Parts: sequence; structure tokens; C-alpha cells
Amino acid sequence: MLISAPLTTIEPLGAPLVGTMRVPGDKSISHRSVLFAAMAEGTSHLRGVLDSADVRSSLGAVEALGAQVDLQKQPDGSLAGTVTGWGQAGPRQPEAPLDCGNSGTTTRLLMGLLAPWDVEATLVGDDSLSRRPMGRITGPLAQMGASFSPQDRTTLPLTLRGTTGLAPLRYEMPVASAQLKTAILLAGIFARGTTWVREPAPSRDHTELLLPGFGVEVERPGDCQAQVSGPQSLHACDVDVPGDPSSAAFPACAAVLRPGSRITLENVSLNGGRIGFLQVLKAMNAQVSWEQTGTCGHEVIGRVHAAYSSDLQAATVEPCSIAGMVDEIPVLALVASHARGVTRFCGAGELRVKETDRFQAVIDGLAVLGVCAWGEGDDLCIEGQPGQAPAQGLVFDSLDDHRLAMTWSLVGLTGTSPVQVARFDAIRISYPTFLEDIRSLAS
Ligand code: S3P
Repeated sequence: MLISAPLTTIEPLGAPLVGTMRVPGDKSISHRSVLFAAMAEGTSHLRGVLDSADVRSSLGAVEALGAQVDLQKQPDGSLAGTVTGWGQAGPRQPEAPLDCGNSGTTTRLLMGLLAPWDVEATLVGDDSLSRRPMGRITGPLAQMGASFSPQDRTTLPLTLRGTTGLAPLRYEMPVASAQLKTAILLAGIFARGTTWVREPAPSRDHTELLLPGFGVEVERPGDCQAQVSGPQSLHACDVDVPGDPSSAAFPACAAVLRPGSRITLENVSLNGGRIGFLQVLKAMNAQVSWEQTGTCGHEVIGRVHAAYSSDLQAATVEPCSIAGMVDEIPVLALVASHARGVTRFCGAGELRVKETDRFQAVIDGLAVLGVCAWGEGDDLCIEGQPGQAPAQGLVFDSLDDHRLAMTWSLVGLTGTSPVQVARFDAIRISYPTFLEDIRSLAS
């Protein structure tokens, strides 16, 4: 492979991963706490907010829209402080395009947040974000009365024109997506009448769990359904953000792969829509377990234990479970490459529209390792090669995708020879302290 981007050498860990650690705050909950606090009347106190490039995109956007952000870096690396929202006054007309960086969550949630107000905002993003599908959001929001220009565009840059006369919507979602669900519900809060959505499979429900704290009633009339009756208003709320299970997946999988490892990750969100990766690891015969230790707001939190697992077996993941582990599939695919048999992630087509085409990127990255992986329609299949030591001098490309950067770095960290990862600094998007954290467990 010829890569012209800067390469980072990732050396093998000098010792097994042992001990206890906390991972940074959950990215999904951090975005939501910032955005909902900005929408609310009054001053919200936030703690444990993830300090990463993606969350900074949301912070920058809400400041441009008139929220007052006073968050300070804490000794543990998180952000804590206050956000004073625009409340009943609504967001201010932004003077410049809102730069969403690499963040799909910022973009899609902002569209729902802005739709009910008399504002016009242009949303822009980096190259990756500018390729991601936005038609799934603009379609239903346009049905509610918002308008988007240019009219026939389904990717950024897009200009949204909101309206205070938003109509409610009943919407059968074509994909299980928490971002889409949230965008419609946020718009629905201000529409006169009941806005209802149903998903084809369950996605993370942080929005449904967080909004009641901000004074917004969200009903769940049936499986995979949520509804809000508008108009309602948000009031300030204090939010403690728990650790991110998607970040926890990386040290957990590192422990599973590195002989002699045994670790515990504390204060992790164990939201039912986020722990699919643990269930798959268990089905693969990995030494993992988790236990609830309490709650953080309405989120269930707890400990995750993971240890070296010498007898990994292939697993099959059904389409209805994909949304519950969608961000962890690349690293699970790496674990699957060490398992006996063919692991199948069935109905994993959404991977093609993430920060990069992760469906193809996983196949290509595993090919670098000499592992056979392929697609059968939307099924991603990996034929494990347990016991095979990777060749020396391997070079992987993150394609500027944070989860791929961390996945391929695990090959070097848990193996016996260094690897090089191009554009490794993509980790700044969700887990800037990833390397230090993993190394701290192996010292
Ligand atoms: C997210 C939802 C998921 C996930 C993303 C964060 C969220 O995206 O992949 O990293 O915070 O709502 P989709 O809604 O597109 O599945």
C-alpha cells in the first residue's frame, strides 16, 4: 500500500494490560447535554463532558447560536462548568456558517434543533462529513415545514431555513439511527401536536433518557417508538456524563487480545443500546463481564471487566442488533480475526456511511493482516485465523477515521512487532488520550 499521509509508529505494549481505569465521557451524551443545555432556559451545570474535537464542534455551534458556554478543563481531562441557553428567545441568527467539523451528531442534531425557529443557518463540515448522507434528516424535517437549499442536495454544505409554524410528524424511520430519531424529536418539541417515530430496530436512547431532566416529556408508546407532544420548552438541568462504552471497547478488546491481561473499566454507561459489543464478545467466548453499579441521571452505569481470551470463537450478529454496536464493529472485526470460524455481522450496510466507508475499510485493513474478510450484500464476514502472528512492518490507513485509527493501532499494541498507522491523529475526534490510557494499564 502506498500512503503519503503522516505515519505514526505504534510499538507493542511492554507488559499485559492490568488494573483499573476510567474512560473519558460518553460522546453521544456529551453532545446531547451541550445541545439540550443550549436550548434550555437558564444555566445548566455539566460535568464529565468529553473534551474531543467532535464535542468541540457542538460547543462552537451553540456559542455561535447565542448560548454562553463556560466549561473548564478538569484534572481528569474532562470539561465541567455551565452552559446558559437561549430558552424561549430561541437561537440567534448565526453570522457565519456553522462548522460541524467531522461530527455527524452535531450536524444532524443541529438540523432538528434549528428547524422550529425563524433562523437561516448554513452547515458545513470537513471532507468526510461532506460526503455523509443528510437526506435522511432533511426529508422528514422538510415534511414538518423546514426548508433546505440547494433543494436537491443531500450532503453538506446545506442551508436550513427554520419556521416557527412547524407541523408535527408521524414517521416510520427507514434506518435505525439515534441521530435521525433525535433530530425529529427535537423539532417535534416545538411543533403543535404529537410527533411520533418508529425505528426498524432499537438505537441508543440517550435523548429519551436525557430530555425529561430538561423538562420535556418523551413517551415510548411501544417497541422502538418515541413521541413528544409540542409545544414544550426546556429548562436548565445538571448533567453528569458517564464514561463512553464505545471508547471502553478499545481497552477491553486490547485486554482480550494481549496475553496475561486483566482490566476493569469503571463508570461506563451500560445503556442497553450501547453494550452490544460486550454481548458479542461474550458470544465469542471472550473473558468479559459487566455489572451495574448505579445510575447517572437516567443512564445505567457500571464496571466492565475484560481479560485475555485464548479460545475465541466466531459469532453471528443479527441485523436487529447492529445499531447497538455500530461504532464498535471495526474493533470487533479485529477480535473476530483471532477467532475460530467465520464471524458474520448481518445487515451492517450502515457502516458504509460512517466517518468513512467502514465496511470496505475493515475488509482492506484485515487484508493487510492477511485475514480474509468479505461482504455478502450487507453482511460483513470475517474468517478468523487464530494463532497466526502478523507479518512485520505492517502499515494501516485510518482514512482519517478515529475508530479505524484505534482499531489498527491495537494490532501493534497487543502484538509483538510495531505497526504504522497513517493519520493516527484522527483519535482526537472521540478519544484524544487513547494511547496514554492504554499504556497506563501496561506499565
Ligand atoms: C450517534 C448515533 C450513531 C453513531 C454515532 C453517534 C448518536 O449514528 O454511529 O457515532 O450520538 O446519536 P447513527 O444515528 O447514524 O446510527
